[in-house]
Amino acid sequence: MAISTSASLSLYHLLDPEVLADPYPLYERMRTEDPVHWDPYLHAWVVTRYADVIKVLQVFSADRTPSPEKLAALGMEQLGPIARVMVRQMLFMDPPDHTRVRRLAANVFTPRRVDGLRVRIQEITDSLIDSVFAAGEMDVMEAIANPLPAIVTAEMFGMPSDDHRMLKGWSQDFAEMLGNFQHNPGRTPRVLAAVDSMSAYFGDAVRRQATHPTEGLINALASAEVEGDRLSDEEVVANIIVTMVGGQETTTNLIGNGLLSLLRHPEELQRLRENPALMPSAVEELLRYESPSQHTARLAPTDVELGGQEIRQRDAVIAVMGAANRDPARFLDPDRLDLARTDNRHVAFGWASHFCFGAPLARIEGHIVLETMLRRLPEIHHASEAINWRPNLGLRGLTALRVGWRR
Ligand code: HEM
Repeated sequence: MAISTSASLSLYHLLDPEVLADPYPLYERMRTEDPVHWDPYLHAWVVTRYADVIKVLQVFSADRTPSPEKLAALGMEQLGPIARVMVRQMLFMDPPDHTRVRRLAANVFTPRRVDGLRVRIQEITDSLIDSVFAAGEMDVMEAIANPLPAIVTAEMFGMPSDDHRMLKGWSQDFAEMLGNFQHNPGRTPRVLAAVDSMSAYFGDAVRRQATHPTEGLINALASAEVEGDRLSDEEVVANIIVTMVGGQETTTNLIGNGLLSLLRHPEELQRLRENPALMPSAVEELLRYESPSQHTARLAPTDVELGGQEIRQRDAVIAVMGAANRDPARFLDPDRLDLARTDNRHVAFGWASHFCFGAPLARIEGHIVLETMLRRLPEIHHASEAINWRPNLGLRGLTALRVGWRR
């Protein structure tokens, strides 16, 4: 297959406001015209078909963060402190390192621990709604979607829940690194400051466990042991940070994007109201339809053929889950929101060994928040025409979502 370098297919177009508002026509062109596309602007292959995305997530290398030494050799030593944290995060590791860290973490992030958070998530959701109910109007992002995952994360870690605003600020700053491939040197100082503050905050918390243990994930991770193996303090801090960022920005966007999709499809919203038992499948469909995490990156492990293209070892590859989730070769009528969709194995949580570690928690949060908003806010509707998407290309979400209801 010929290599098409057509500028019109570059993922950089996600920076155009009309593409950011609706990236799906661009994804459709990419899937049909050049499904494994060399993007010279990103210097990476961009993969948009479901079957190819699965293959990338299954067999390509996740070990893609340049080491601090490599960055120094490239004259980018100022990024060293960020890389030092990222190379210890499970998201950027291959086996056997990935298997080891994930196994230790899975040992403490158990289904029982996650399920035990249900009651508290309901209480937090109710109290956030109580505080705005009388106003008859709110910005969902500010009132619920931002604070809820931050409070849940703080409490799950065993940190004071009043710290949630600080955690949210750091996580938003760090997400600039995770979600964006448009390098913006102007943002580096903020990301560096966030990494510095988070490392100090969680480093203190880990060290305190020896003398003042607290109930929660930090303590559990710091003392996790499998066959005599334990995580070092630096590994605990790095993986607490990835859990915190991975768990907040995405869940925030599940709530915001999910509610927006429902408001844009009143007949589906009505269907859900009439049949609340649809909620589990509705959450899956909302994740497929407006995926909070639109793409991720890998490196080719060897020279390899994909979709008719010859990819060279260590070439960068971007797997676009947002495009795979709308692939008509996999999903019937993929641009239709169908809350009762069956056969819905989307890739919004990734696939294979890096499949989202927090998916059970994200599903519970999405379920409780959407169910509670629909139940407690009668006739919920858009209170403003404006829909503003965050200019983060990877983590798709809204800056604000104003809604009103009948009091
Ligand atoms: C709607 C919410 C969420 C979405 C859409 C989401 C999406 C994803 C995706 C796509 C990946 C795989 C990335 C890749 O393969 O490169 C991932 C991994 C991960 N997620 Fe989530 N996530 C969500 C919520 C959460 C929550 C609540 C937590 C933690 C409490 C979490 C923690 C993680 C971690 C630690 C990984 C890395 C797993 C590994 O590398 O083995 N995520 N997530």
